[in-house]
Amino acid sequence: MNGEGTKVLIVDDEESLRSLIEIYLMKNNFHVISASNGKEAIDKIHADRPEIIISDIMMPEMDGYELLSYLKSSSEFSEIPVIMLTSMDEDMDKIHGLSAGADDYMTKPFNMEELLLRVEKLLFLKRRIAGAELRFTESQKLLDLTKEELLKAHMQLKKIMLESLEGLVTALEARDKYTRGHSERVAAYAGGIAREMELENIDTIIIAARLHDIGKIGVRDNILYKSAKLTREEKSIIESHPVKGAEIISKISFLKDIVPAVKYHHERYDGTGFPEGLKGDEIPLAAKIIAVADTFDAITTDRPYRKGLDFHHALTELKMNAGSQFDPVVISHFLKIINTR
Ligand SMILES: [Fe+2]
Repeated sequence: MNGEGTKVLIVDDEESLRSLIEIYLMKNNFHVISASNGKEAIDKIHADRPEIIISDIMMPEMDGYELLSYLKSSSEFSEIPVIMLTSMDEDMDKIHGLSAGADDYMTKPFNMEELLLRVEKLLFLKRRIAGAELRFTESQKLLDLTKEELLKAHMQLKKIMLESLEGLVTALEARDKYTRGHSERVAAYAGGIAREMELENIDTIIIAARLHDIGKIGVRDNILYKSAKLTREEKSIIESHPVKGAEIISKISFLKDIVPAVKYHHERYDGTGFPEGLKGDEIPLAAKIIAVADTFDAITTDRPYRKGLDFHHALTELKMNAGSQFDPVVISHFLKIINTR
């Protein structure tokens, strides 16, 4: 009927009662195992792993309380429900049994039908708890997976956004043959210097170098590409590009680390640069690195008003400006990477 082959262990030294319970439960399709005392029960528990135990209290060799305490202190068997049986009908025994971890308690003589109902109820509860635990574990796994996918999507979004900004700079530079590919080369030089200096934020410096002139998007073409001498006003518009760039970048939260490098890439070591006239160590290191990379690329490529210098002459010019325009430490590292080429 109800047992469906569930293994039940009956522990009682009174053979006649044990047999009675065995027969009744077998008729109800339980798989019955039995033992006559606690010690024997422990062997059977290890060998057969019952799902529920019905145990007497007073038994020779090892009584029901000792068996119960063995089970509840075991990590393997503490979850097996136990129904205690006894002929004693004193409140203290019930309290003792239940506080020692028994799941239910029945006093002899008892009704077999009631015992069966209690067995079924405990099994039902045990399975329900196991099911809830399983569902909890599965939900946890699903949650972990969702978190992982969200993180992946977030990274992908960052990548796409960065690529769009880089695309914007590339498009801006491509309109003028003299600046084509400028930011990519500046990023390569700046990355090289950062690696040579063994800095931890190499990737941030490369991204900053790639986007350092993004503020030029806000400068009108007739000023940006003017080959004639700039007026004072036009010069100041051009010189606003680091601040404009920093404003654009500061709106993108994951790029906030590169804002100082973009904003201060035209500062000079001696304090005569723009936008704020910072000097020496007031200028962020990333900005000082980009300044060297930027100038090196500008003087080695052709411009409308002059031919680009070769590497040797460009390096001489950088060295001459170490300490005035450039940070001498950055220059010394740049020289190392160029000289090992
Ligand atoms: Fe610039």
